Amino acid sequence: MVGGLFHVIDTREFDRPLLDQLCALTTRVRGLAKTQEGARALQALMPQARAMLYFPQPSTRTFLSFNNACHVLGIRTSEIRDPATSSEVKGESFDDSIRTFSSYVDVIVMRTPEAGYAARAAALMDRIPRPVPIINAGSGKDQHPTQALLDIYTLQRSFALRGGIDGKVIGMMGDLRRGRTVRSLCGLMKNYRDVRLVFIAPEPFAMEADVKEELARHRIPFTETDRLAEALPALDALYVTRMQTEWDTAGESSAMDYRQFSIHPGNVGRLPREAIVMHPLPRGPEIDPAVDEDPRAMYWRQERNGMWMRVAILLKIFRMEDRLFELAAETPPDGPDPA
Ligand code: NCD
Repeated sequence: MVGGLFHVIDTREFDRPLLDQLCALTTRVRGLAKTQEGARALQALMPQARAMLYFPQPSTRTFLSFNNACHVLGIRTSEIRDPATSSEVKGESFDDSIRTFSSYVDVIVMRTPEAGYAARAAALMDRIPRPVPIINAGSGKDQHPTQALLDIYTLQRSFALRGGIDGKVIGMMGDLRRGRTVRSLCGLMKNYRDVRLVFIAPEPFAMEADVKEELARHRIPFTETDRLAEALPALDALYVTRMQTEWDTAGESSAMDYRQFSIHPGNVGRLPREAIVMHPLPRGPEIDPAVDEDPRAMYWRQERNGMWMRVAILLKIFRMEDRLFELAAETPPDGPDPA
């Protein structure tokens, strides 16, 4: 929260009470949306609000889940997905483009190939007379905070009957060096007690030093290995990531040996029975589709959780959380909690 304005830029800004509140809000929203009455009440919450979805970097899930999260709340949306259709082609600066969006809408959700641009947009907002909140939907190789929030929700739900995230061992596998999802998730780990991390990657794709320094500063133990089979039995969660081939400059991704760094029917059984397999998606060869049938596969539910968590984030930004909890009390849930 900066100057009374709530931007979502970097996971390092989140504390445990806020995380717990967002998770509780997410669960209430999911419950409400199940009934027609609840879904209608949600839709009536913010019919005056408008959102700009500025996604010059490719996106399927994050774009669609934000778009639909807005619609769940009755928020109308505008979008720019291809910079060739905006005045950037006439040479308009990034700052002027963002300021222009802010003239028409109440929140800007943005994904850029450049690191640090969401932070720059937020800093601009804090200088102008009619600022709006900025939500970082992915900034270069750096941060993807709303993905990390939906990942936390997925972990917390999965471990709800086992003491939550505290005390769990979380493995992260794949292109850790260039993956913004794992970087952002690491930034939230300081909020949980006795979590241990296991980074599973070949050396060229090892986790960056700045993340490891941050973990060390918060005394979060982590180990690094390139032996997946040995790591699996100790994990409560395995967070798999794809090769970030879009950042290759000289075919670096071809150095990844998927025989050693992928999960498939032949090795998923080495995970404990109660463990979960996560992935931000889209996936490449690092998860065999046959694993989808395994009860430990959590990534499709994780994907769906993303829309509900993004509804919760919007509610929090617009300070509607109390109204939501009132609504939830007025509209009791029917039936069991859906997956
Ligand atoms: C991730 C991203 O864009 O960083 N995708 C997503 O938002 N679900 C992960 C990825 O592209 O590998």
